[in-house]
Amino acid sequence: MRAEELSQAFLDVVEQAAIACAHTMGQGDRHRSDRVAVEAMRARLDHVAIDGRVVIGEGERDQAPMLYIGERVGRGAAGAEGLPEIDIAVDPLEGTNLCATGAPRAIAVLAASERGGLLHAPDVYMQKLVVGAQSKRSVDLDAPVAHNLQQIAKCLDREVSDLVVVVLERERHAGLIGEIRAAGARIRLIGDGDLTAAIGAAVVGSGIHAVMGSGGAPEGVIAAAAMRCLGGEIFGRLILDTPEKEARARSMGIEDIRKVYTSAELASGQQITFAATGVTEGALMKGVRFFGEGCRTSSVVMQTSPHRVQFIDTIHVKEQAGRRGLRF
Ligand code: FBP
Repeated sequence: MRAEELSQAFLDVVEQAAIACAHTMGQGDRHRSDRVAVEAMRARLDHVAIDGRVVIGEGERDQAPMLYIGERVGRGAAGAEGLPEIDIAVDPLEGTNLCATGAPRAIAVLAASERGGLLHAPDVYMQKLVVGAQSKRSVDLDAPVAHNLQQIAKCLDREVSDLVVVVLERERHAGLIGEIRAAGARIRLIGDGDLTAAIGAAVVGSGIHAVMGSGGAPEGVIAAAAMRCLGGEIFGRLILDTPEKEARARSMGIEDIRKVYTSAELASGQQITFAATGVTEGALMKGVRFFGEGCRTSSVVMQTSPHRVQFIDTIHVKEQAGRRGLRF
């Protein structure tokens, strides 16, 4: 399967997941929103001509009925032979609360690589620093926040006070928020969705200059896949603050538990594909819009080889709808 065909197939997968959970927007039930996204994504993946393996998913086999870590997906799972071996990282609904409350920036997302090209990260927190291409060689996850902000400002030819840093609004970030404020930068606190914010940090003109703080490690790996395509950078360190988490990480093959990973280490594959569709409104991707004859989705699909980034608007037409003409 050529890279373009694979991207198209993955676009279809995230579009279907986004459409399914968008129906539940604002219904106040994040678990249901997540479940329908998972079911739709899983069903669509069955049609893709790959021998797929989930490396980042909905949890361990005993926690998740579908898209669990290690699950085989694609036509290969049904016995088809000779298909490309692909590793897949999924987040069928990134921002379950955002969807359940109708808040902006929920997305359905998937990253893929040839086998072995995505880190098997345990489901723990990751300390993250995400910046765009211009600043990526000038920051350090272990440097003081004020220093990193000065470096980013210098690279972007502006004042620290002009910068916008996205931080998840969490108690654990009180110290970090205080440091960013003391350095003089502006902050956008978000309720959820540091993966969506990370994509923004890598896109010039998005108004986001960095993402700082800790969030899910699985989201960090998927963000790294996006960075590989967009040229931005995520620096991440797993937070293994209990003996159980440390043992879990070691059992997954992670030896240096203090390691600061870069995008090229989190998503090391030669052939990375990333696809995401907006569920609720966002700056880069609009949310799913329904109308009588179907719906309209807004997505981004990217790949490293050949290197390409596409923003795609799709009109999904119900069968028979064409007879009445389309209104969208
Ligand atoms: P869900 O989609 O699973 O609800 O996760 C949303 C999210 O905000 C991620 O974007 C982020 O990485 C993580 O949760 C942060 O975790 P926590 O809510 O425990 O701080």
